[in-house]
Amino acid sequence: MGWNSWNSFGCDIDERLIRDTADALVGSGMRDAGYQYVVVDDCWFDPQRDPQGNLRANPERFPSGIRALADYVHSRGLKFGIYQVPTEKTCAQRGGTYPGATGSLGHEEQDARTFAEWGVDYLKYDWCSPEGTLEDQIAAFTKMRDALAATGRPIVYSINSNSYHPDKNGATHDWSPVANMWRTTEDIKPVWDSGNENEYPMGVVNIIDVNRGLAAQARPGHWNDPDMLEVGVYDVEGFKGLTDTEARAHLSMWALMASPLIAGNNVTRMPDGIRDILTNREVVAVDQDPAGAQGVPVRDHGDREVWVKNMADGSRVVALFNRGERPAGIRTTAREAGLPKASEYQVRDLWAHETSTTDGEIRAEVPAHGVVLLRVSAQG
Ligand code: GLA
Repeated sequence: MGWNSWNSFGCDIDERLIRDTADALVGSGMRDAGYQYVVVDDCWFDPQRDPQGNLRANPERFPSGIRALADYVHSRGLKFGIYQVPTEKTCAQRGGTYPGATGSLGHEEQDARTFAEWGVDYLKYDWCSPEGTLEDQIAAFTKMRDALAATGRPIVYSINSNSYHPDKNGATHDWSPVANMWRTTEDIKPVWDSGNENEYPMGVVNIIDVNRGLAAQARPGHWNDPDMLEVGVYDVEGFKGLTDTEARAHLSMWALMASPLIAGNNVTRMPDGIRDILTNREVVAVDQDPAGAQGVPVRDHGDREVWVKNMADGSRVVALFNRGERPAGIRTTAREAGLPKASEYQVRDLWAHETSTTDGEIRAEVPAHGVVLLRVSAQG
């Protein structure tokens, strides 16, 4: 769990923003709710390596350097992450919005050592090229895995094979031997449904439709990554942003799919309502459950879906998911959720924070583009 600069700020980042964000993660309670990694995405670097071929920070935007920034983030009880690519150009360099060609190609060990010396705790490593077969991608991502391991510093390894790659050939590949987390789709934007299957840009439901088939490869330490959160992200590339109902549904489904929760909003100016969504501890606990199971759909009726996640304590989390444009009653049973036979079940509504009991029937009225998230356990 953490925060990343990309969804709200793109290339428009500097050390002040990152420090202010670290402060705001602490002040808002997000750190204490579990959001730990502060990740600086694309555009942090000088477009030229130094004469020895070392990466260095963009001198105007990060004049104090990355090590000082990582120290600051650590001093706030947080961890520090950074972005790089295995190819020649980062995505912003490839797209022409940032100069240079400073990717790690041919510099893998050197860059891994630099990151370890700076105190980096998390590396986002992003393909960013239309070229290369799946085998090329496996070789390149494995090379950096080994280079990071050789530094001796524990560094979360987050990879993305999809950017700029037309085939999406890595999207459904099982990367669990290579990385701690791997993107399963093209980039998310703050929209419910972009109408795309797996093409830029993706909406919340489009991502769910790809990620849902990959549950079997998720396990503790190795996670499908359906991209970062758009909760509280507004006005990006013509997208107005999610409603609060959609934002709760988005977080509910990411938690149910045991996804990395990387916030992407401006936490230095976060409305209380958005803070309350992101820091809902009962929902975060679904995501962070030690069993690490990725929930799956058990019932699918057009726009009305029922999803279930098995929890370590034997309870089941049930998501009543309404994809459609009108409110809908959605039902399931304790049995369909996989619970053992019992005379009574306890049902905890994780957004309303209310507990009720049932003899097995589970039903709720779900708003359009909404999720009712329930934790159900057998009693006696
Ligand atoms: C790709 C990634 C994004 C972001 C940008 C940066 O598009 O998928 O998450 O890192 O590159 O340019």
